[in-house]
Amino acid sequence: MGAGPAGLVLSHLLHLEGIDSVVLEQRSRSYVETRIRAGVLEQTSSDLLIETGVGERMLAEGTIHDGVNLQFAGERHRIDFAKLTGGKRITVYGQQEVVKDLIAARLGTGPTVRFEVGDVRLIGLGTDAPTIRFRQDGVDHELGCQLVAGCDGFHGVCRDAIPPTLRREFEREYPLAWLGVLAQVAPSTEELIYAYHERGFALHSLRSPELSRLYIQVDPGDTLDGWPDGRVWEELHLRLAAPGWTLAEGPFLERGITTMRSYVCEPMQYGRLFLAGDAAHIVPPTGAKGMNLAIADVVVLSRAVARWFAHRDRSLLDAYSETCLRRVWRVQDFSTMMTELLHRLPDEDPFANRIQRARQRYLAGSEALQRSIAENYVGLPIG
Ligand code: FAD
Ligand code: PHB
Repeated sequence: MGAGPAGLVLSHLLHLEGIDSVVLEQRSRSYVETRIRAGVLEQTSSDLLIETGVGERMLAEGTIHDGVNLQFAGERHRIDFAKLTGGKRITVYGQQEVVKDLIAARLGTGPTVRFEVGDVRLIGLGTDAPTIRFRQDGVDHELGCQLVAGCDGFHGVCRDAIPPTLRREFEREYPLAWLGVLAQVAPSTEELIYAYHERGFALHSLRSPELSRLYIQVDPGDTLDGWPDGRVWEELHLRLAAPGWTLAEGPFLERGITTMRSYVCEPMQYGRLFLAGDAAHIVPPTGAKGMNLAIADVVVLSRAVARWFAHRDRSLLDAYSETCLRRVWRVQDFSTMMTELLHRLPDEDPFANRIQRARQRYLAGSEALQRSIAENYVGLPIG
């Protein structure tokens, strides 16, 4: 269920194992191929795309980064991934491009992705023969399955199919939101800049030699109307300012506001249903982890399904949730740490603010803390 990174990578990996799958997606193909979201791929994620034959365009059009910059009080501190992690790096390549490449690969093998499906109903998940009923082009369909992978994002229907008495939810809402823009201008930086400023967080990311992706912290109640382009640029200039550096402006091609939350559903499985990606967990975007975590989940799931199909051995499937949750909570910790390090909280406790600054100063001079950030940012091995 769902043609985001989780559903598409899973379907692709299963295909390579000789296992058939059908991906059901409620939106149109053009909608999912143009939905602008994440941009950072961990070394493990980019390696996977290359090794499984869907990395060609990413290698040609994505950019490899050896580090990122963290900026406090106008001073930039480069986290040198290559040096601190023994040569690991990240790739900057838009999520919608990953999605396009995967859809092309899946459709190249047959009608394996069905778009614009509605009225989805999951039946018999607790039995050995689950069924999905759905409607497409005005016609009702029924699909018999051996397993259902709930890859339908945070607002999907799969998570709710786990009886409430059997699941526990962990949630944290932040009094923060990001206003993100895609600007038609060459990036003013070669590597990402994460900036803490008295006025709030700002991020300069990239998409291509001609496109910059920029974010500023805003209030969760803010609307785009309250942020005309001039005001967005003014804040970006102030918050990203560093001596001898200038920020180039260009027209905005896209603008959006995203609120921030941390969320985990435990367990991530019930009977023949397995949740993966945002359907099971959400991290605040400060660690650039959501898409990578979705990919890590389905790597674990595909191995477990392959073992089950080949040997009728359910042990990896039974351990799926436990295996994934270890990484999920590690990533929750990292994403929370990055969020708390870099944002200005409204109604901030002055003590907490001093602690935050002490941590920023420590990070600026401590190779130990920089190494910890680097190894989490480039991605820990998949368990
Ligand atoms: P999704 O991409 O949400 O896909 C779920 C799919 O299921 C969707 O296509 C949806 O239409 C479909 N669906 C929903 N309900 C149904 C239904 N009932 N029936 C059928 N289909 C359904 N992550 C990173 O790793 N790095 C980043 O730099 C980063 N930056 C981000 C920036 C922003 C502004 C945002 C919003 C997110 C960012 N993320 C980032 C997070 C990342 O985009 C998500 O974690 C990722 O999309 C999760 O993939 P997924 O496949 O689990 O879910
Ligand atoms: C992005 O390029 O969209 C991006 C980069 C880093 C983040 C979040 C988003 O932490």
